[in-house]
Amino acid sequence: MIAKRIYINTIGCQMNVYDSEQIAGHLALLGYQQTASPETADLIIVNTCTIREKAEQKAYSFLGRLARLKRKKSNLIIGIGGCVAQQDGERILGRLPFVDIVFGTQAIHRLPIWIRQIEEKRCQVVDIKMDDDARAPESIVGLHSETQSSRFVTIMRGCDNYCAYCVVPFVRGRETSRQPDSIIKEIRTLVANGVKEVTLLGQNVNSYGKKEGLCSFAELLVRINGIERLMRIRFTTSHPKDLNDDLIGLFNHLKKLCHYIHLPVQSGSNKILKLMNRNYTRELYLDKVSKLRDTCSDIAVTSDIIVGFPGETDADFEATLDLIKAVHYDGLFAFKYSDRPRAPAVDYPDKVSESQKNERLQILLAMQDAITRAKNQALVGSIQEILTDGFSKKEISAKSANASQPAQATGRTFTNKIVNFYLDGDAENSGDIATGKLLNVRIEKALAHSLWGKPLVGATTAKGVKGVESYAA
Ligand code: SAH
Ligand code: SF4
Ligand code: F3S
Repeated sequence: MIAKRIYINTIGCQMNVYDSEQIAGHLALLGYQQTASPETADLIIVNTCTIREKAEQKAYSFLGRLARLKRKKSNLIIGIGGCVAQQDGERILGRLPFVDIVFGTQAIHRLPIWIRQIEEKRCQVVDIKMDDDARAPESIVGLHSETQSSRFVTIMRGCDNYCAYCVVPFVRGRETSRQPDSIIKEIRTLVANGVKEVTLLGQNVNSYGKKEGLCSFAELLVRINGIERLMRIRFTTSHPKDLNDDLIGLFNHLKKLCHYIHLPVQSGSNKILKLMNRNYTRELYLDKVSKLRDTCSDIAVTSDIIVGFPGETDADFEATLDLIKAVHYDGLFAFKYSDRPRAPAVDYPDKVSESQKNERLQILLAMQDAITRAKNQALVGSIQEILTDGFSKKEISAKSANASQPAQATGRTFTNKIVNFYLDGDAENSGDIATGKLLNVRIEKALAHSLWGKPLVGATTAKGVKGVESYAA
């Protein structure tokens, strides 16, 4: 088979990262190998996101720029997948006639058929069919040539929650969970290929398996915890309304379950939470955070917040700031509310002005920055176990410019904080510990969004490399 090249541009959330790996895996079966530049590709796929207007614009502006490439190379195949494809379907061909295929979020496993057809007949294809009643299709385990310490594993697709601002239920379809055996098999394969950490993905992992009568999410975690040589388990996202005591209890129980939870609150005002259709109150949310901390004292908590949701007054915004102070988050992702055509909030009255949204966002981010800094500062002097995750890119080029400089590597604590550190020692050993190893580091410095550490000398060693601890499965 002649090697053909595929370039994939992934925009959006971790689900899309996972889906892009699925796309690469499926198309590898047709002989497509990945390339890092669109100019050298025979097939370009843009995996898109439409969560906010800006994400959608990013997809269209990248696609627009591909017109020039297509003119130069007439047999180039251009495909758009993901959430914008699902949302706009055939209209995309009217807007960008040089696109060959528009495929939705549930059409990925049909891609090889379509691409082969386009290769042979140069036709245009639109496939945005949703198989909502069907089982989630089997995943392909796409393995990479270089070892990766951490990978995403989608355990469920879709969402049934219909938060008033959100497009996801419309572009990802109904909530469907994968069979536990299939998930376990996939993780085992990843681990056999050097992966040490998995992040389980779902829009609301707490409702895993409920519809289908499979095991619960807590039971799934217990099974995954038993996979030999897997070192760490993370998951995202947990909806506050469904976070239950079973799951909270596991943080104190499962050795591999990282002490970290992303628990999006969206707003601290009960009035806004109701308008958003979130189905919890700030009191219930705060109660769940307290339970988490009572169970697992060092658990890190992060959140998503939307500022400027329709109807949000100064008092509502103050309530959000007050909640941020009360929780003392380890980190926050804050977004300005963005109208999405299919989400109900598009028709809500009392829209907040763009300047008001900007102002609120700045105030909120400044408050959180101070909290994050203080939290990071409190870790200085402590010893943290990190899972190493490769060299930092910036440092690779710096190192080639100055070979005497030690390389800078990076990793994450059990609580999901980024720690950068210098790798001393000869190159072979350095390479060996830079990816997928548990390493004890002393935190020396706190920065705005990361920590700086020094690997500990004299810890248990593997292959004679100081500071590396082997992990009993
Ligand atoms: N399922 C996850 C969220 C996925 S979307 C959950 O329920 O937490 C990621 C985040 O994008 C959301 O948490 C929300 O904060 C933000 N978001 C979603 N729709 C948005 C919109 N229309 N405008 C601004 N932010 C939005
Ligand atoms: Fe969107 Fe709400 Fe579903 Fe999250 S839970 S994906 S915010 S509808
Ligand atoms: Fe974006 Fe779709 Fe994810 S809209 S956030 S890529 S589910």
